[in-house]
Formats: sequence, structure tokens, C-alpha cells
Amino acid sequence: MCDKCKEKFLITTPIYYPSSRLHIGHAYCTVATDVIARYQRMLGKDVLFVTGTDEHGQKIETRAKETGVSPKQFVDGIVEAPKGVKDLWKLMNVSYDRFVRTTDDYHVETIQKVFRRMYENGDIYKGYYEGMYCTPCESFWTESQLVDGKCPDCGREVQPAREEAYFFKLSKYADRIQALLETPGWLEPASRVNEMINNFIKPGLEDLCVSRTSFTWGIPVDFDPGHVVYVWVDALFSYVSALGFLNDRYQDYEKFWPADVHIIGKEIVRFHAIIWPAFLMSMGMPLPKRIFGHGWLNFNGDKMSKSKGNVVDPYLLAERYGVDALRFFMIRTFPFGSDGNFTNESLISCINVDLANDLGNLVSRTVAMVQKYFGGQLPLEQTEDPEKDDELITLACDLVHRVSEQMDKFALQNALAEIFRVIGRANKYIDENEPWRLAKDEANKPRLARVMYNLLETVRICAGLLRPFMPDTADEILRRLGNPDSSWESLGFFGTLYRDAKAENGPALFPRIDAAKELEALEALMKPAEAQKPAAEQAPKAEQAPKAELPEPKAEIDFDTFDRSELTVVKVLACEKVKKSEKLLKFQLDDGTGTPRQILSGIAKYYQPDELIGKTLVAVTNLAPRKLMGQLSCGMLLSAEHGGRLTLLTLDDAIPAGARLG
Ligand code: ME8
Repeated sequence: MCDKCKEKFLITTPIYYPSSRLHIGHAYCTVATDVIARYQRMLGKDVLFVTGTDEHGQKIETRAKETGVSPKQFVDGIVEAPKGVKDLWKLMNVSYDRFVRTTDDYHVETIQKVFRRMYENGDIYKGYYEGMYCTPCESFWTESQLVDGKCPDCGREVQPAREEAYFFKLSKYADRIQALLETPGWLEPASRVNEMINNFIKPGLEDLCVSRTSFTWGIPVDFDPGHVVYVWVDALFSYVSALGFLNDRYQDYEKFWPADVHIIGKEIVRFHAIIWPAFLMSMGMPLPKRIFGHGWLNFNGDKMSKSKGNVVDPYLLAERYGVDALRFFMIRTFPFGSDGNFTNESLISCINVDLANDLGNLVSRTVAMVQKYFGGQLPLEQTEDPEKDDELITLACDLVHRVSEQMDKFALQNALAEIFRVIGRANKYIDENEPWRLAKDEANKPRLARVMYNLLETVRICAGLLRPFMPDTADEILRRLGNPDSSWESLGFFGTLYRDAKAENGPALFPRIDAAKELEALEALMKPAEAQKPAAEQAPKAEQAPKAELPEPKAEIDFDTFDRSELTVVKVLACEKVKKSEKLLKFQLDDGTGTPRQILSGIAKYYQPDELIGKTLVAVTNLAPRKLMGQLSCGMLLSAEHGGRLTLLTLDDAIPAGARLG
């Protein structure tokens, strides 16, 4: 298809404040956006992925003064320098197409013209600002919006401010904004819509202060030079200055605007879902098609902050585990729309379980067996006995549709879960078919070739679909399969691989990590004083098998004692955190009886409630009920403890609720 005929897709990340080095939370937002952009490119769309830096404002001016450099030198030191913003995106393999800095001349030109236009059409007027200002957030608040007298966003002190200022008539747009917010699918997840309506629209929108006179590090209002443009006007219009709107630097505005989606963090939804559309309405410009407000990554249950010394450094982790492992971990572990709790344990467990064990093993076992039994190339003649393989083939064939369905909803975590369900099924297919047994008898060779072919095809489809998430790893897997077709269209077909497919093995894609040792090393490295050490000095060593600390053995029991336990297959209908408890999750489970069973389980540290819904678990269902935090728990969910982490025992979804184990 020619470029002109391709469907366009404009996607943006927030432009980042270069007031200090970016952390894993920023990387989360940008990597997730990158995953979506890469997926859209795979669909064949003409994608423009815009990111950048938001370089003006009082906070930057103050930080530069403290450092003894000019504000421009200060931001250059964070944006362009080694280990700066651009460097981080390079490291994380972020495939942005355009990087806008708000100090760039073409952007300044756009902002001055925008401000003048909104003034000339009567939406900006001059007055006095009297209120409270939060410098770290660059936000004005009214008394009624403060929480305990502090900034409602960051909880820090606010300062009284009175100065001559320009105001934007935000109140004029309240009804249109409310209707926009109520448009299904415009702002997602849906919970953010209620938040916006209840917290901002219902109390009444007040006009917004859009210029400052008490500091100078900003874009001057060209018709009133004592004023600098409020940073959020400056920042939001970067989405269109980057396309060439009211400047000559680019010519992409007509082609790409309106944005297909703005991906942003939850704390800046107000600016994007209320203030931004009002500005665009004032300018007579089309509105973005969708806005997605993702959750925050906390560290060990706490908000990441420099002052707490718990900021997770993406450089450190990427150097130790590889960029793809880090990208994968963030998307696989945290539901995109909710907050997530980053722990070192969950990172290491994810690498060991999903990457080393499930994906790594599937690839290396498959390729190694093709090499061992067929010298790396399958024989041409294969008998067709598809009935035996229907389940795997159908699952793999339809995977592309299931992944698309999730990706189109930005349910990135679910898309990965779908791929890993097939990876799990393929590993089981190896165990069921026992290729090593088939290989013992020459008469079984055609069947063995068929089994290996099915595995190679499944690996090809999974690797192709993993490309947006782990681009380098996916390419390496495909290389080991002889670079077969991995175009989007080919991923919906089983049988695309040549019948005489070749395969070539290589080193472990993800070496297994000794969890206990690694956790100790990581904790030491993350201590602020130690964090400066080159991470490569302590790179993890690959090893053959995990060394779990074995618990003390329990006393022997007879069969009848064991047989009195009722182990039942259950499905998670609902799951939520128990209020005031850091440990407990409350489950409603389908146990096959028709009446939901409630169980409380102390695993809140290891799982987000949303990720468990629909899972197939095992419960002890004849334990005497007991009360935990005042709530009844009728049974116990089985889990395994390893490397400082608890993992719930999950079963194949095909096993129905109520089935008994024994
Ligand atoms: O807000 N977890 O810039 P910013 C997840 N300049 N996301 C996080 C996070 C965390 N712990 N910490 C930060 C700004 N983020 C403005 C944007 S757009 C026109 C202007 C996310 O550098 C945060 O939610 O403070 C936001 O989406 C992004 O990083 C940039 O934050």
C-alpha cells in the first residue's frame, strides 16, 4: 500500500519535565506508548509518535539557580546529555518519530500565535490572580480545591500569589466539556470520567490563569512582554507545534491532527480532558479522538520520590536484565489503567517465570529438538494428522485476533496474557507428545516432524506478536527460525512456515537468575550512596537451575488425613483489596456450587486485583471458615513461596470450576 493511502495514527506521550532525571515511572508511560505505536505500525498504519520535554516554568528556573547555571543550560544537561531524556528513550528502544522541546524556536512561535489568537477572539482577558500556587506542580488552586490546605495533587505546601495575569474563559466551555467527557470511550479508563465530572465539572469550572509575571523563564506574551505564558498552555500545544501548526518547521498538521490518542498519567487527566479541549474549542480546532489515563508505578507500596530516596533507576535495571526484560516486566505485571506496585521480587520472579521458564524454554526446547532430531531442518514429507493437534493450532491461529481485541482497548497486560497462554499450551504440548520418545522409533519420524512443525509455527506466531513488547527478543527468536514471514497478516495463519523449516539454536534468551542472591545485590545497589556503582560490575550470572531455599520438612501424615482435605478448582469472579489492610485481597470465587465463595488471602503485595479476575485457581474448600479483618473467609487459596514472593497456583482454564484435585 502506498504511504498516502495508509490510515494515519497520531499517538503522543506527555512531554516530560526535565527538572531531574527520569525514573522507571516515566519509562513505564513511554514504553507503553511505544508498544501501542509499534503495534499500530504492524497493522500497516502510517504512525506518528510524538514525545518531548516541557522545559519552562518556575520549578526549572529555581532548580537552575540552585545549580548555578542558566535555565537553558540546566535543561540541556538533562535532555541532551548522556543518561538524559533522549538517551533513556534510546536505551529503552522507544521508537518515537518526533521529539519536541518547548524551548525550540518553532514551538515558541506557535505558542505566541496561539495565545494571541485566543486573546483576539475574546477567550483570554486581563485581571489579577489571587490564589494558591503549587510550584512543583506549576498549578494554581482555589482555597476550596486544597486538601488540608495543601496541593491536592502532590500534597505539598502551596504559596499565596497575587499578580496581574491573563485568564482563559474556561467556565464558558463547561457544558461542552461535560458532554465530551460523557462520550463513551473518549476518556478511558471509564473511572476517570466520574473523577473529572465529580471533582471539577460539578463544583463549577473557574476561569484559568494563563500567564505569570513573577518569573521570567517562559515564553513571553508577545503583545505584553512582562507576562510569560502559563506552562500548561505552552506544554499542551506542543502536541500540535510538533506537527507544524502555526510554524513552518513541519507540515504534518493537516495530515495527522486530531490525535488518535494521548497517553498520559492519571494526575494530568484534568489538564488533558478539561483544559486542553477547552483551548482547542476556543481555537476552533478538532479534538483528540481518545485519551487514556494510565496508573502510577509505586515502589514497595510507596510513591516514588527523590526525597524518599526510592526512585527506581531504569538504567540500572536495563543494564542488569536487558531492555526487553524490563519493557516486558512493566507491561506484563501492571494493568495499564491502574496503579502498580514495583518490587524487586516481582521483577526477578517475572524474568524467571515468564521469560526464562515459559518463553525461553519453549524456544530453546523446540529449536534444540529440531536440531537434534532433524539436523536443524525438518524433512519435507509429513503426514497430516491434524485432529491430534487441533487445540494448539486453533489457539495459535486465533491468537492474533485475541491480541488485537486487547490492544485496541489498550489492555496491554491482557494482550500479553493471551500470548503467554499459548506459550504455556505449547510447553504442555511438548510434554504431552514427548518428542524424545517419538524419536526412539524411526516409524514415528513423520509424527515427530509434525509435532516439531507445529511447535515452530506456534513459536513464530508468538514471537511475531511479541514484537511490539520486546522488539529485539522477538527478532532474535525469528532469526533462530530462519527469519520466516512475521507480517501481521501471516500471524493469523498456521502453516506459513516452509515445510522444510530450519532452526538454529543460540544462548539462553533470558538466563535464569538466582533470586535470593540477586535481591541482595539489587537492594545494595539501590541504596542511594551505592547507586552510582557501574551496574555491569555485578551483572547476574546465568545458571542451570533455580536454587530455592527449602523449608523445614513437615511430619509425615497418613493417606486418610490427607484425603480429608477438599481441594477444589475455583474461578475468580471478583477480587478487591480489603480496606485498611496492606496484605489482604478479598475474592468471590465460582466453586461450581452456583453460590459464590468468599476467601481472603494475604497476597495483596504480589498481585493487583484486576489481573486475577478470570484466573483458574485451587482452594481448600473444607477449612473451617474464619474471620479476617472482620470479614468471613471460607477456605484458602493455594500458593507457592519462592524467592521472597508468593505465586498463586493456577490451572489450565479448560478445567471447570468445582472439579476436585486429588
Ligand atoms: O506531567 N508512574 O511531566 P512529568 C507512572 N510536563 N507514571 C509516572 C510516574 C510513576 N511513578 N511518575 C511520572 C508532566 N509519571 C508534564 C506533562 S503534557 C502536555 C505535559 C508520568 O515529567 C506522569 O503521569 O511530571 C506523566 O504522564 C509523565 O510521567 C510525565 O510527567
